[in-house]
Amino acid sequence: MKSCFVVYYSRTGITQEVAQRIAAQCACESERIVDTRARRGVTGYLRSAYEALTNATPPIAATTRDPGDYELVILGAPVWAGRLAAPMRSYLHAHAGRLHAVAAFCTMGGSGGEAVLDEIAALCGKPLAARTALSDSDIKGGHDRERIAQLIRSATAAPERPVPWTGAPRHAADHTPKGSAL
Ligand SMILES: Cc1cc2nc3c(=O)[nH]c(=O)nc-3n(C[C@H](O)[C@H](O)[C@H](O)COP(=O)(O)O)c2cc1C
Repeated sequence: MKSCFVVYYSRTGITQEVAQRIAAQCACESERIVDTRARRGVTGYLRSAYEALTNATPPIAATTRDPGDYELVILGAPVWAGRLAAPMRSYLHAHAGRLHAVAAFCTMGGSGGEAVLDEIAALCGKPLAARTALSDSDIKGGHDRERIAQLIRSATAAPERPVPWTGAPRHAADHTPKGSAL
């Protein structure tokens, strides 16, 4: 199984910039979630906010990699109207069941990041191995570097991450009767 994979959604390029830096630092593959319908202009902005607020799962283009092939998936998405950007919700609806360890970052103008990270964890059905919310001004000013380094450190050091998925129960040893020889 491969070690790490970055999956992100980005409407205007900020999340993409961070995602690509993380992928470069982890020397791993990345994939962008792509809308099947344009989100340009005021109409696109308003539709995006509406979809975020209504928990919509808009159509996205088929992705090429199976996140189940990776020990750790790092997700990245912007905050929309205090909620998770809807295309990432679509992705997680389709793939959450395949994810092993998950870390996540979100980008934002200035607020809503922690709630969005909670939303990602809930959609994944598991706690995040590492998480961080980054503001646009921090990213543009280069003040996000230490936070990103910390995210990578925590995600790659998480106790669950190095366990390769074999299809067997994760904690098989826990079910061993006391006193039995292993
Ligand atoms: C529809 C919409 C709603 C947004 N709502 C919020 C918000 O509630 N809080 C916030 O801090 N930023 C909000 N933003 C700003 C984005 O989260 C932020 O600019 C992000 O970095 C954009 O990422 P991207 O360039 O990868 O698309 C919103 C942006 C859009 C398009």
